Amino acid sequence: MHATLTQHLEKLFLKTSRGAARKAIYALRARQSGEPAVAALYEAMSQSEAAQARRLLIQLRGQTHTNEENLRTCFTEETPALINSYNAAALQAEQLGEQAMHNIFSQSERVERIFLSLEKKVARGQAADQATYHICRFCGFIREGAVAPEECPICTAPRSRFHTIGKSLRSP
Ligand SMILES: [Fe+2]
Repeated sequence: MHATLTQHLEKLFLKTSRGAARKAIYALRARQSGEPAVAALYEAMSQSEAAQARRLLIQLRGQTHTNEENLRTCFTEETPALINSYNAAALQAEQLGEQAMHNIFSQSERVERIFLSLEKKVARGQAADQATYHICRFCGFIREGAVAPEECPICTAPRSRFHTIGKSLRSP
């Protein structure tokens, strides 16, 4: 595929993904404000854009870089950039006395730092072939291992809030 078209695909994938997420939030707001018809429209548009994004992603498969290059980008650019952004946001929230927002930003920063240790493990070839990951649905915390923690060490959500990804699934 022509490089220009790949760039269009990447940009459109980001825009449709963001559009779907934003419309889901608009729908939530409309539903909370007692406007179900508006909420339904936003939900429909959100799902439509999510479908568009999936379709674009299918076209992008095969247009991506090698696994090694993706890992390097993720490990040296994307994750550190997010950590910096969360850190700056947490500092700002603290200065403004917005404790709840400070907690959200700083907890997410800690989660992203966990990504770094997991990525290092993969980069060193230390990750198990059938690694299992448990993700806190509330804050995004990730734990590798056979069972999810009883309580999320970041946000204290119970084990029932965890979602498991991996081949070697085992009941806690
Ligand atoms: Fe959590």
